Amino acid sequence: MFWKKKNKPAEAVRVDERLQHIAFIMDGNGRWAQRRGMPREYGHSHGAATFKKIGRYCEKIGLRYMTVYAFSTENWKRPQKEVDTIMKVFDEYIEQCFLEMEEDNVHFQFIGNLSIFSAELQEKMARIDRETAHKPFVLNIAVNYGGREEITHACNELIRAGKTEVTEADISAHIYTAGCPDPDLIVRSGGDLRSSNFLLWQSAYSEYYYTDVLWPDFSAEDVDRAVAAFYSRKRRYGGV
Ligand code: IPE
Ligand code: IPE
Ligand code: MG
Repeated sequence: MFWKKKNKPAEAVRVDERLQHIAFIMDGNGRWAQRRGMPREYGHSHGAATFKKIGRYCEKIGLRYMTVYAFSTENWKRPQKEVDTIMKVFDEYIEQCFLEMEEDNVHFQFIGNLSIFSAELQEKMARIDRETAHKPFVLNIAVNYGGREEITHACNELIRAGKTEVTEADISAHIYTAGCPDPDLIVRSGGDLRSSNFLLWQSAYSEYYYTDVLWPDFSAEDVDRAVAAFYSRKRRYGGV
């Protein structure tokens, strides 16, 4: 009967080897809060909850790698109160990660210039990374991350190692995501059509998907829509 057909759950989305890595620019937390007459800070805790939900979903559909842009090298320009809230949300997330990491299938990696964080927090991030390194689903969390900073940092490491000339392979081996394949798809919520300094090196041949949905409202169905868009594209890599 037609109503039964209508209520049948949609076929579960599964990705294949063509789509192993999605990166998310989780934008729109502030506007989401402001539209509810709340301070911008309110959006960041909801954004964190969305991030956890989307992470679980990406693992479930068979992705191998997920990268999220949580805080950029430029985000320090924001009012101190907002920066403090974001850092508090981040601290709480790390704490939860630390306590629950054994139960998850996730290898947590923190990418960005982490040297600005306290020694204690750096040690915690390093430990979470080390102790989850055998897990199958890689989650890169970009904090104090900037694509230009990353490339500059890679070059400086190469100079320190004595290089006077570098190859693309050298730079790929010294960026923060070394060892991860480049993202196949980069998804940006919040309606803006720009990279905002995210994965500049890695995105050379990534597909982009933009949506007006604000990050706290971002759902599994939005992931499905981005995945469907990805599979409708033809990646030519400069060929024909
Ligand atoms: C993204 O949401 C989260 C961070 C940059 C930390 P925003 O805070 O940029 O939200 P909008 O774009 O101002 O709405
Ligand atoms: C990009 O969003 C950074 C993160 C999502 C962490 P922004 O809100 O900082 O980007 P702009 O300022 O609109 O380019
Ligand atoms: Mg924004």
